[in-house]
Amino acid sequence: MNTKLIFADVDGFQTPMLAVFAVDLATGKNVEPRPLLLTSSIDVADAAARALGPGEFKAALGETALIHTTEDMRSAGLQAERLLIVGLGKTKDFSLDKLRKGAGTAVRAAKARSIRELAIAFPEVSAQTGESIEQLSAKLTARAMVEGAELAELDWDTYRSNRKDSNINDLSMIIAVKDEATEKEAQTGFAEGLIIAAAQNFTRSLVNEPGNVLTPTELGARAKAMCDEAGLACQVYSSEKIQELKMEAFWAVAKGSEQPPALIVMTYQPAKGVAKDAPVLGLVGKGITFDTGGISIKPSDGMEKMKYDMAGAAAMIGAMHAIARLKPAVKVVAVVCSAENMPDGRAMKPGDVVTAMSGTTIEIVNTDAEGRLVLADGLHYAKTLGCTHLIDAATLTGACVVALGALNAGLFSNDEKSCAKFEQALAVSGEGFWRLPCTDDYRERITSEIADIMNTGKNRWGGAISAAMFLKEFAGDTPWVHLDIAGCAWNEEKKPWIAYGPSGIAVRSIVEWVRSYSAQ
Ligand code: BES
Ligand code: ZN
Ligand code: ZN
Repeated sequence: MNTKLIFADVDGFQTPMLAVFAVDLATGKNVEPRPLLLTSSIDVADAAARALGPGEFKAALGETALIHTTEDMRSAGLQAERLLIVGLGKTKDFSLDKLRKGAGTAVRAAKARSIRELAIAFPEVSAQTGESIEQLSAKLTARAMVEGAELAELDWDTYRSNRKDSNINDLSMIIAVKDEATEKEAQTGFAEGLIIAAAQNFTRSLVNEPGNVLTPTELGARAKAMCDEAGLACQVYSSEKIQELKMEAFWAVAKGSEQPPALIVMTYQPAKGVAKDAPVLGLVGKGITFDTGGISIKPSDGMEKMKYDMAGAAAMIGAMHAIARLKPAVKVVAVVCSAENMPDGRAMKPGDVVTAMSGTTIEIVNTDAEGRLVLADGLHYAKTLGCTHLIDAATLTGACVVALGALNAGLFSNDEKSCAKFEQALAVSGEGFWRLPCTDDYRERITSEIADIMNTGKNRWGGAISAAMFLKEFAGDTPWVHLDIAGCAWNEEKKPWIAYGPSGIAVRSIVEWVRSYSAQ
């Protein structure tokens, strides 16, 4: 998709399809919707008037109405062949993320009709629509729109031989010229949005790969190729290095597979250099390319989904791609621990005791709780590489999915400052994360009779917290944020704005969190 930002009036813009946003002004329950077009163009409003008649269009999020323009409309000045009205939902619920989804809806509506060229009009807000919309900056508006559009373009049909080419060739984002400052802001947001969406789409493409294609070695190769292209340092190690570093927890998982593990280290060093005591951020990802559960084998129903158990790793690799291009003034080191969790003659067994790189001894009670084992060594290793602040992402627990469903991922932290920065990042990323506790009174949940800790909680209750408590042990005193993305990494349902399949969750928030530490 060739995406452009164009400063022009929407009326005169020639395009097969012009998308314009609408919100619902109605407040209160059981009231008729009151759709309002977010445009100052009289020609667009005139053309849309009939389609917006009572009861026909509610302006609900993801709802669309298509109008083929007539000769009359065109002679009145509107040059688009079609007008697509895209609902953004109630005015009071309006947010940047609704706009992101709205732009995505426009792109997917065009794709569904095999329309290859479209334009999306920036929302224009009148006094009627209230303050919440007026506060949006041109920068964040442009960014959210381009992100939504780029994410919407992709469908995960790579492996289908009968797939239909429904790619969009050209997308124009149309903004009326206001002043030079707004123009600049829109351009900055647009450029950032393209970088972030490309990174998130890269993450999604990795998560989509099946386990037989994307082995730990292949994940390492793809990370390395990305780093070479983006100018990042990257080392990919395997079994020997993992054993040499005494990462027994990581190795316990890795040794049960024919596929060698990969320990991937990617480093971003800001060009200008930073102060000696400046923070160094450590991004640690769970990269289980397939999770059978190991000897504590999973039920076969739905097991095919466990190819996405490397979504945390993919999020970190994608985030590094964006970081390399956005160039924040802060050093970032990403550590990805990738392995396949398999049952085998050499696999770890329930009851085994291993000593993690940190020296902590772990009783392995359930071999299906493998993510925390690889992350234990990943977190500790990141600290030995000089990281002063840690963030990890992992499809860690089914319990987190039970607790939060698919709308919010789990957020845990041992440090209020780092956590506050992450929560601020969410306002820009639009992603849903809900904080759960990991206070010290939960520590007894993972105390083992046999070793220092065990890799499950005493029972099933609060399973996402037990997993977080396990990781917290390895973060130690280092400020740390933990993201349990098990419920959000895979879209079970397609939406008007995004396809079924890998979501790329956490990339946008992690990138924004990293930028909040930039020295500039
Ligand atoms: N990869 C799974 C968690 C998961 C579940 C991811 C559902 C995505 C969707 C993880 O390795 C796992 O199996 N965790 C166990 C832990 C338990 C044995 C303590 C779980 O959640 O059941
Ligand atoms: Zn597991
Ligand atoms: Zn797993």
